[in-house]
Amino acid sequence: MSSIKCLANGWNTAAARLAGLIVIALQAFGPGAGWTQEPVQPQIDEQFAKQEKIYRKRGSGSYTANRGLSAYAEVLPAGFCDALGSLGGSDRWLDIGAGEGRAILDYYEPQDSAAPAEKCARSKTKARAVAISIEDRRTDQWKEQAARLGDDRIRYLSGKRLREYSVEELGLFHIITDVYGGFTYTVNLSRFVEQVLSLLEIGGAFYTVLPAVRLEDGTDKLGTWYKTELVDAASRQVKVCSWLKQISSTEVTCESKIGWDEPTQLIKIRKVSSGVSVPRANLVEYLAGAPPNRRFQLER
Ligand SMILES: C[S@@+](CC[C@H](N)C(=O)[O-])C[C@H]1O[C@@H](n2cnc3c(N)ncnc32)[C@H](O)[C@@H]1O
Repeated sequence: MSSIKCLANGWNTAAARLAGLIVIALQAFGPGAGWTQEPVQPQIDEQFAKQEKIYRKRGSGSYTANRGLSAYAEVLPAGFCDALGSLGGSDRWLDIGAGEGRAILDYYEPQDSAAPAEKCARSKTKARAVAISIEDRRTDQWKEQAARLGDDRIRYLSGKRLREYSVEELGLFHIITDVYGGFTYTVNLSRFVEQVLSLLEIGGAFYTVLPAVRLEDGTDKLGTWYKTELVDAASRQVKVCSWLKQISSTEVTCESKIGWDEPTQLIKIRKVSSGVSVPRANLVEYLAGAPPNRRFQLER
């Protein structure tokens, strides 16, 4: 599946990835070292600095940041298009990690007649949409369309990560999406999910996708290289969906994609009431990339 292949830019071969991790593992878990709930990886700041360069890189070798609405319809959970297509003029959609914001442009002015995108954009009065990206990737097309639509129908916010915005600044949303954006890249997974849920209206839903993870239904193959790993306090593997299902006041559904290049989990989190509480997960290992390799450890 081509859109998934584009993700692998940061890691050229499995061997290189393995070599990188072995070095880190030797440094991190050499004599006397053990798991703690703090990042134990030496030189983790170097990895963060490398990651900043990945965000800033443009042109060849840069990650994919221009997926349109059809690609969103393909990689997000079933029901996303229907939900987006049924929003009205006073509703709001937030796209976290929007890149160029092409999905939002397509929603307002569908570029192709592909059935999935048409369905997502079928409502006559469109929801207001907000795009968030760390780096400003606005195109001329974005600027022109924003000026044409006027009245703040579409907004593009950059220069900060999601966690740096307050709820007052952003307001509440009926739908939040994240396609290979903050959910795949954040160094603070529990804080990220908490922030997303604080920005959702009750009854609203977060639609996202996570590549190279242990699948909820266990259909991923042995020998898979996982890019996001979760372990419990005793370092036992935990599936991302099992962890998400511990969040109070939400309903979590997970779909598994195994025919793709990497085992991929499509995730929908619906907020059913206030009082959301997200179990803590602390970053213990991080390798820069597109996307990065991350390991989190859950608190007791
Ligand atoms: C690989 S691009 C994906 C862009 C777009 N969703 C697409 O599929 O074409 C990753 C995007 O996520 C953004 N991003 C990563 N971490 C983020 C965070 N914590 N908060 C906001 N944006 C983030 C990047 O700045 C970039 O816009």
